[in-house]
Amino acid sequence: MSSPAIGILGTGAYSPAKVLTNHELARMVETTDEWIVSRTGIRERRIAGKTETTSSMAAAAARAALADAGVTPEQVDLIILATLTPDQPMPATACLVQHLLGVPPRAACFDLNAACSGFLYALDTAWAMLASGRYRHALVIGAEKLSTIVDWTDRSTCVLFGDGAGAAVLGPTRGTAQILGARLYAEGAHAGLLCVPRGPKPFIQMKGREVFKNAVREMEDAVRDILEQHGLAASQIACVIPHQANLRIIEALGKYLGLPPERFAVSLDRHGNTSAASIPLALDEARRSGRVRAGDLTLLVAFGAGLTYGSALVRW
Ligand code: COA
Repeated sequence: MSSPAIGILGTGAYSPAKVLTNHELARMVETTDEWIVSRTGIRERRIAGKTETTSSMAAAAARAALADAGVTPEQVDLIILATLTPDQPMPATACLVQHLLGVPPRAACFDLNAACSGFLYALDTAWAMLASGRYRHALVIGAEKLSTIVDWTDRSTCVLFGDGAGAAVLGPTRGTAQILGARLYAEGAHAGLLCVPRGPKPFIQMKGREVFKNAVREMEDAVRDILEQHGLAASQIACVIPHQANLRIIEALGKYLGLPPERFAVSLDRHGNTSAASIPLALDEARRSGRVRAGDLTLLVAFGAGLTYGSALVRW
């Protein structure tokens, strides 16, 4: 039996209403809007309110994706939630999202942590489970409340991150929005470059320059690998949806691949780095703004703590 073709049937996103600008941050730590914009491209980020949780944001993004796909909660039989900020260590936040959405009990629901590469890890996992023929419709969600693990007194990290959620509905397709390939990687030897240690200060710690260098190299490798596997040239990619960490990382990737800046979807100026939510947020924005059109070849590429990285190819 040949595997069914699996596609992205719909996407959705959710961003908290509260905006935290660089100018406001400059009143909290010793920094300036000019420094943050020139080093990262970030101008503002969204911060979850007290009653907003990873599960509530994930559910809101998932509802939008289901509506976009024309798929009902009753049809969903798999939820994979990529997050490094679950509501609690247990139960899995995916189960809370299942309940919020009214997805029936015969669905498999679990969380997955691959940090900022989480959405691509979840996408590849869901794709494999759907391609097995044993599941039919999956919700793949990236959602983060990073504001709870940011040290708001550390100017070298607190300017980078934000909260939000993005989601995609995966299911059988007759050729549109088809997932053509995905490839995941991890380099545990670099686990110490970016982490949230246990203990009295469980906040994001990062060796920024090393992460930057590894990020560019890993994303370039991931892109070259998947293009080679599919016999494609970089110039055939209409739109790259990269992890939204730093505009200079995206620009360096473009330079190495020989792709102009217009080929890259960028949303980090308004959201900062939302970790597992960053790619689905940028993808949803790109689709809704007409940036991704029918027939376009789109490449998703991520890197994150682990260090994890990966890529995926989608023909719309
Ligand atoms: N405002 C003003 N100055 C700041 C600052 C801030 N918010 N944060 C750091 N600085 C200072 C540093 O203290 C340092 O000062 P010093 O030279 O007196 O020691 C100076 O700016 C330069 O720091 P450096 O770390 O070399 O800057 P950089 O050009 O590498 O930019 C990052 C810093 C964090 C923006 C950059 O390294 C980066 O984006 N790295 C990747 C991070 C990332 O993507 N993480 C998520 C991965 S999923």
